[in-house]
Amino acid sequence: MTKKDFPIFANNPGLVFLDNGASTQKPQMVIDEVSEFVAHDYANIHRGMYSLSERSEELYYKSKEAVAGFIGCKPSEIIYTYNSTYGINLIAQSLVKSKFLKKWDVVLLGIREHHSNILPWQILAQEYGFTIKFIDLMVSDEWLVTSDENYDINWKDFEKKYDKNVKVVAVSQTSNVTGKIYDVQKIGKKLREETFFLVDGSQSVPNFAVNVAQIWCDCLVFTGHKMMAYTWIGVVYLKKEYIKSLSPMIAGGGTVEDVDTTSYRLHGSVDKFEAGTPNIIGAVSLLKAIEYITSIGGIQKIREHEQQLVHYFMNKLSTEWRVTSKKIEIVWPMSVEGRIAVFSFVLPWVKNFNMIGEKFAEANVCIRCGGHCAYPLHKFLGREGTCRASFYRYNDKNDVDKFFEVLNEITKS
Ligand SMILES: Cc1ncc(COP(=O)(O)O)c(C=O)c1O
Repeated sequence: MTKKDFPIFANNPGLVFLDNGASTQKPQMVIDEVSEFVAHDYANIHRGMYSLSERSEELYYKSKEAVAGFIGCKPSEIIYTYNSTYGINLIAQSLVKSKFLKKWDVVLLGIREHHSNILPWQILAQEYGFTIKFIDLMVSDEWLVTSDENYDINWKDFEKKYDKNVKVVAVSQTSNVTGKIYDVQKIGKKLREETFFLVDGSQSVPNFAVNVAQIWCDCLVFTGHKMMAYTWIGVVYLKKEYIKSLSPMIAGGGTVEDVDTTSYRLHGSVDKFEAGTPNIIGAVSLLKAIEYITSIGGIQKIREHEQQLVHYFMNKLSTEWRVTSKKIEIVWPMSVEGRIAVFSFVLPWVKNFNMIGEKFAEANVCIRCGGHCAYPLHKFLGREGTCRASFYRYNDKNDVDKFFEVLNEITKS
């Protein structure tokens, strides 16, 4: 995969796109094949007796098959939603509606969570009275701590807080701020059978191989637009037993087997969670994005490339920046393994960090500055916000060089 596959770069000469943690660019192949689908095969799915509807429906289910293959589950365990945020809301609301989660229960979250994995629980906790607790991280003050422990889960804190009242554990597999990959499998193995385990895979599924059976989760959510599909297509993997036992957050067309004026009978399958017309075009875009990933050698190739970039980036940082370490504070683990190519930093002598983003933008480099929808993490770290550069498969060493060139310019000024 090179930049040549992505028309955004030809259309914006000199663009250095380092905001992939927020959303990724789309390959020409995905754009072309989605347009082809819309131009030739599009109609609403479910019970259409004509060929267009059948062709659309076939692709919708082919998309679920591709997703299931990608994360190691069955297509019948895949619910399509609109993004990770919607997926976590759907699950949180369903757990409450089904009385799985009740007044005296505890939901355990990571302090590192994105707001999308905090607010859905907080809003329900206010209404239904359950408690939320947060698992801390291990953070060292040392500037260069190479240990893998830095920014990792504080396991002692986890053991202390995971008591008999905890009914749900919902954590991210990878931080969108520090880039740290967490050992969610270790969490999965520690949980009691009756604890519901949700993993937010928004920053992991696009970057490395994730297998739901290996991480022992009951539920995995992620979002298509961060892995080269279009926006507004999200995925919820839900374990079979919960598909049966949970009630949906909303209902409507497509969710029922029968309705009359006094009663209804919901589907027993994932269909009961997909009320109304789904994002058929988004589902096809996700299918095409996965086909594109396969065509370039699979997710492992993306991981390998990003690892090389991480290596190159860290090398540059330690050779060119070590001496001037006072000028930059980094908010990520220094180990090369166990992380994705996301780098958040602070220039302590610049009060307004948005100014840093603007300086990068002037040089045609797109980074993101702020709280990255992770205010509790920033508060835990004692920071107002950070600047974040996040790389993907189409980024190359020149992009890393450009990043440091701009950083050098800023520190000189
Ligand atoms: C870790 C994490 N979780 C959830 C989300 C929310 O994703 P979406 O906006 O697609 O719902 C993001 C987005 O940045 C994220 O990084």
